[in-house]
Amino acid sequence: MANNKMNNLIEEINQKLSTTVPESSLNTNIEESMRYSLEAGGKRIRPVLLLLTLDMLSNEYKSGLSSALGLEIVHTYSLIHDDLPPLDNDDYRRGKPTNHKVFGEWKAILAGDALLTKAFEIITNDTSLTDTVKIKLVKRLSYASGHLGMVGGQALDMQSEGSSIDLNTLEKIHKAKTGELLKFAVMAAVDIAEPEQAVADLLETYSEHLGLMFQIKDDLLDIYGDETKLGKAVGSDIENDKSTYVSLLGQTGAEEKLKFHADAAYQCLNELPESYNTQDLESIIELFNNRES
Ligand code: IPE
Ligand code: IPE
Ligand code: MG
Ligand code: MG
Ligand code: MG
Repeated sequence: MANNKMNNLIEEINQKLSTTVPESSLNTNIEESMRYSLEAGGKRIRPVLLLLTLDMLSNEYKSGLSSALGLEIVHTYSLIHDDLPPLDNDDYRRGKPTNHKVFGEWKAILAGDALLTKAFEIITNDTSLTDTVKIKLVKRLSYASGHLGMVGGQALDMQSEGSSIDLNTLEKIHKAKTGELLKFAVMAAVDIAEPEQAVADLLETYSEHLGLMFQIKDDLLDIYGDETKLGKAVGSDIENDKSTYVSLLGQTGAEEKLKFHADAAYQCLNELPESYNTQDLESIIELFNNRES
């Protein structure tokens, strides 16, 4: 589904990810477990979104590479922990057995911990960015990953298992657990390119609609998706008695919400100054709408 430009970026990201965790001088094999999940595949949609946003704003994307890698590394850690038995207890991810199934639980926990901090090491080591920009990026990624962002959303998601929650609460969970990291993708590009405030605001709203779209589609695919295309098991949400867009609104209701947020995201791009070529960011909306994996 990704176009050529996206595929080239994915290739560059994959190549760089494959060298981020070298052998250990401590003689542990945590690195093997970290590399296993980093190199297991994955759509790389978050780093691609970051690089495409930066390219639109500044006609170059290289200064976003460290943030893009950091973001994908945090996301990968979140998936390792999400699959652990006390959380979603899933056995299959990115087309392979989950990290804890291969390496055991303590290594999966520690690999996740080490990936989280690796992300900040990569961003702060980037000599092509000023210290001021690096501090902004570190602040933004800490917030997006932490107890008010992804981890907070995961906690709310776990806390809500087995109980019936309303749509407002579900939206709050989705915004935090999935939306904040997707927002980082767009807003890290804003931190680096520093466009005018009105542009930053429109892009922030665009990213919020993308975040909701992404998790609504994930909820739909968990029921109606194809396991071999997804690379993860379907039915996990029902098994864990999670509230999702589908459990609350049904398939049609969830699809309508998806369309609502897609339209709203397009609207944000339409309102950007004409000097910006929004084609790539439109392709992202299409991808989020139509993805099967
Ligand atoms: C899965 O994310 C977790 C969610 C936030 C829904 P992705 O669907 O982006 O997973 P990968 O990175 O492609 O494996
Ligand atoms: C998890 O959401 C989002 C994360 C922060 C990892 P899900 O639990 O729905 O993600 P999948 O379906 O296992 O990929
Ligand atoms: Mg989960
Ligand atoms: Mg899960
Ligand atoms: Mg899911």
